[in-house]
Amino acid sequence: MNMYDSERMKDVLAPVGYGPVDGPEGADLVVLNTCHIREKATEKVYSELGKIKQEKAKTGGKMIVAVAGCVAQAEGEEIMKRAPVVDMVLGPQAYHKLPEMIARVHRKSGERLETQFETLEKFDALPKQRSVDGPVAYLSVQEGCDKFCTFCVVPYTRGAELSRPVDDIMIEARSLASQGVREVQLLGQNVNAYHGAGPKLEGEGDWTLAQLIRHTAKIGGFDRIRYTTSHPRDMDDDLIAAHGDTPELMPFLHLPVQSGSNRILQCMNRGHTREHYLDVMRRVKEARPDIGFASDFIVGFPGESDQDFEDTMDLVREVNFCISYSFKYSERPGTPAAEMFGQVPEEVKTERLHRLQALLWEQQTAFNKSKIGETVSVLVTGKGRMPGQMAGRSPWLQSVYFDGDESLNGQVVDLKINHATQNSISGDLVGAKEVAV
Ligand code: 5AD
Ligand code: SF4
Repeated sequence: MNMYDSERMKDVLAPVGYGPVDGPEGADLVVLNTCHIREKATEKVYSELGKIKQEKAKTGGKMIVAVAGCVAQAEGEEIMKRAPVVDMVLGPQAYHKLPEMIARVHRKSGERLETQFETLEKFDALPKQRSVDGPVAYLSVQEGCDKFCTFCVVPYTRGAELSRPVDDIMIEARSLASQGVREVQLLGQNVNAYHGAGPKLEGEGDWTLAQLIRHTAKIGGFDRIRYTTSHPRDMDDDLIAAHGDTPELMPFLHLPVQSGSNRILQCMNRGHTREHYLDVMRRVKEARPDIGFASDFIVGFPGESDQDFEDTMDLVREVNFCISYSFKYSERPGTPAAEMFGQVPEEVKTERLHRLQALLWEQQTAFNKSKIGETVSVLVTGKGRMPGQMAGRSPWLQSVYFDGDESLNGQVVDLKINHATQNSISGDLVGAKEVAV
C-alpha cells in the first residue's frame, strides 16, 4: 500500500514540477513515506530524519522535508516537536494535499499538519491518470480496517474501512492498461471486504471484490490480476468461485491466519476459527487446484502456550504454504494486546519463530522445486543479476531468472523450469508471446 501511495504522491507532484531522484542528496523535497505496522517503526523514522537533517543542512536549509504515511498519522505533532528538520506531516489520507502544503511552507503560513481521515476526498483529488513504471502496477480499491485485531495498529492509523466507487477504479485501471501494464494488483488493507458503489449489475446492493475482479478482467489488456490483503472472514462463495472462473486471476492467495490455535485467534479478535480457515483453503483449492497459498503468522502472542504454538505448526503442515511471512509478536502501544497478561519471553518467541520459519522455508523450497520440469508463464519485469539474464515473476509470485534479451521486458513468456532454490526458480525460454495491446 505504501508503494502505491508513493506512486500516487509522484503523480500529484508531477504537475508542480517535481520528479523522482535516486536519493535525498541535494533534493528539493524529501518525503519519508512511513509504515507503522513493523516493530520500532517510529524509532526508524527518527533515525532516518537524523540523516536527512545533514542533507538538508547541505542545501542551506532549502530542502523541504515531509513525513507521510502511518507513523505520521500516529505521531502527528510529536514529530514536528521532536524533529524540527520536518517541514510538514501528512497522514495516509492527506497526500493529495502535498502541493498545497509545499506552498504553505514556501509562504511560511498555514497548517503543516494534515492527519484527517477523509479517504474519498483524497481519491477525488488525485489525478485520474496514472504514471506507470514497468508492467506491474498496484491499484488501491479499498482502505482502512474495522476488524480491530488486538495486536494491530492499522485500524487506528488507516482509519475505518472504506471502498472506492467502481467507476473511479475503472478509470484508473484503464489508464494502467493503456500504458502497457500487464499485471494489476488490487490493493486494500481488507481488500476482500470490498463493497464499493457502482452501476447496478444483477441483483441489488454494492459490488463485491469478485465482481470487481471479473469487471477488471473485461477491460482487456491485463493478463494477470491479483488482490491483497484478505481476511478469512470475507472469503465469500463468489470470490472463491472467481478463482475457478476468471483465468486472469492468478492462482495465488495470500490469506493471513496469524495463528493455528482457536484460543489465540479469539484473544486476537480475529473473528474466525482454525476450522473456518482450513475450510476456506479447501474450497479455494477445489475451485483452482493449482493455487499457491501464502499467509502471515505471529508467534508469541500474549498467553500463547506450547500447545497453541504446536497448533500453528500443525496448521502449516496441513495447508502447505508456498510463501509466508512470520513475525514475533511485538507490542504496539495503544492496542489491546499490549496490555494483556502473559507476555511471552523473548527467547521463547525467538525459538518458536525459528522452528516455524524452518518449516515454512522447507515448504517454500519444496513448492519451488515442484515446478522443475514444468512450463511456467513468466511476466518479464527487468534485468536479472547476471549479464544476459532477465528476471520476472511466475503466477505464484516466485522470482524467476532466465537467459534472454531486454526486448522481452514487459512480455509474458513461457519458461521450462530446470532449477529451483528457496527464493527463486530458473529455466529456459520456450517462446515469447505477442504483446497484447
Ligand atoms: N506484532 C507482530 N506482528 C504484527 N503484525 C501486525 N501487527 C503485529 C504485531 N503487533 C503482522 C501481522 C500482519 C502483518 C502485516 O504484520 O502478521 O498480517
Ligand atoms: Fe490489522 Fe488485518 Fe486485523 Fe485489520 S484485519 S486489524 S489490518 S491484522
